[in-house]
Amino acid sequence: MKIITLSFVLLISQFGFSQSYNNLWIPDTLTGTDFTLNIKDTFAQIVNTGNQTITGGINGKFWGPTLFINKGDTVHMNVTNHLNDSTTLHWHGMHLPAVMDGGPHQIIPPGTTWQPYWEVKNQASTLWYHPHMHEMAQEQVTKGIGGFIIVRDAEESALALPRKYGVDDIPIVITDRDINSQNQFAIVPYGDSIMANLTLRAQYSVPAQYVRLRLLNGAIETSYNLGFSDNRSFYVIGTDGGLLNTPVLINGATPRYLLSAGERVEILVDFSGQSGNSVFLKAYNQSLANFIPGSESFPNGPFASFLGHTNYNIVKLNVASTTSNPITSVPATLVNNSYPLEQNAALTRTITLSDSTGVTSVPILGPNAFILGHQLFNINTINHTIPLNQTEIWELKSSSVFAHPFHIHDVEFKILTINGATPPTYQQGWKDVILVEGGKTVRFIAKFDDYADATHPFMYHCHIALHEDEGMMGQFVVTDAVGLNEIKPNEIDFAIYPNPTNDHIYFSFADENADIYYLSIKNLNGKTVLMLPKPQLENGVDVSNLKKGVYFIELTDNKTKSKTSKKIIIE
Ligand code: C2O
Ligand code: CU
Ligand code: CU
Repeated sequence: MKIITLSFVLLISQFGFSQSYNNLWIPDTLTGTDFTLNIKDTFAQIVNTGNQTITGGINGKFWGPTLFINKGDTVHMNVTNHLNDSTTLHWHGMHLPAVMDGGPHQIIPPGTTWQPYWEVKNQASTLWYHPHMHEMAQEQVTKGIGGFIIVRDAEESALALPRKYGVDDIPIVITDRDINSQNQFAIVPYGDSIMANLTLRAQYSVPAQYVRLRLLNGAIETSYNLGFSDNRSFYVIGTDGGLLNTPVLINGATPRYLLSAGERVEILVDFSGQSGNSVFLKAYNQSLANFIPGSESFPNGPFASFLGHTNYNIVKLNVASTTSNPITSVPATLVNNSYPLEQNAALTRTITLSDSTGVTSVPILGPNAFILGHQLFNINTINHTIPLNQTEIWELKSSSVFAHPFHIHDVEFKILTINGATPPTYQQGWKDVILVEGGKTVRFIAKFDDYADATHPFMYHCHIALHEDEGMMGQFVVTDAVGLNEIKPNEIDFAIYPNPTNDHIYFSFADENADIYYLSIKNLNGKTVLMLPKPQLENGVDVSNLKKGVYFIELTDNKTKSKTSKKIIIE
């Protein structure tokens, strides 16, 4: 009986009989160069009535603040894990040293603070951050942990584009969740309820002018075939890694843009002269080809979803009046991207995507787990070693039945061909995720520059969190090939002062060229409390937030990776 009632309620909301809208929540913003992010378990009133939902959030009730950062700045992150489980925080799309990347190797234990920093080299773009703990990505992303990063630069700032956050420049993370009768999120690949910025049945007021939507697919698995309920046209101005050279008009009878897990698209939509009207941003997933994530219509089982193979509203946009200084036209040109040239590629690296029949037995999928390079992910295996500054073509060759959104860390790439053909113009900009359809081959080109680290890998993987957790992932290092093997591990000769301390600790080294790869502070139980990749020791290390007690400072040498510890008392 309960089940029948529940499905009846779901059917009602599905077909629109109970239409009360909730205002789209717009994430808070943080600006500057120092960012404090507290990851925690929390609660939020996601469903209008009944229990609050157990969520995970950063500084708030779910999701996290939008970080505004500027190209050329050095940003410092202060990430504390208040969850009961270990986690990581990955800066998706960011070009930075591997040790700062927040992938599965940069584990932040519960109660620990991680302090990565880097110079922002990305151009203006819409990036995001999310947990990347191996085998826990699906669970932690389902809780709602994540956030937008908006990179600004001079070129983008000089363009007449909508740029008023939450007014005419609106970030929307699209996800779906399976919400049970107790209002809790189930950890499943496909949800029954669509959410825009974690808001169910969202509506938002837009001004009667050009509006920029920064759309992020933050789903576990679903791809969304985006379009508007009146089939209006729109302009694509940017993809994963930044603005296109020129805006691309998406028009015709049914203008659509397929956005897969992890992908972003920036669009301009014209609401001029439409005050008082409303239009829905929708997912038109009924027309998706078989085996695109979200095209399935299983009635039962782990992949069943009310949203499978159907069309649904994501957010209702109510057109209000025009703001002062509205944007009323689309720039003819945007930025001047220079992409790596095919003739400069040193090699073509082939990455296969396949169904792992016979290779493994993953509990949920049995023999149907998906793999890259014919092997399951092994965190101790480096799958590829890339010389620093090398330009490469990656050939993603699928023999899988299913479509997988392939993502690579460290670089933004340019798609060369999709099954031999030039990609559509809206896919000719910088990308870091590309949906590789079953049986097809995608070739992209990228340059692996700036940061070498022979030990710490970057990841490439399917951005369907379920597939990634089950091992559809590999890793690579970018190396400047110093003769690592000849260097003998050695103690680092250093002193710390003052000791005891209650504020900062300072370091002096016997070797003035000492190069420290990592600093960790552990308590007497061996638990890490502070993690500083490539610490900038000139200014000392602030330990004023640590409890009084005895700790060990462990330094890792950059060349040899040997570790040396010293005791310190914090009083
Ligand atoms: Cu958005 Cu490796 O991830
Ligand atoms: Cu990433
Ligand atoms: Cu996949």
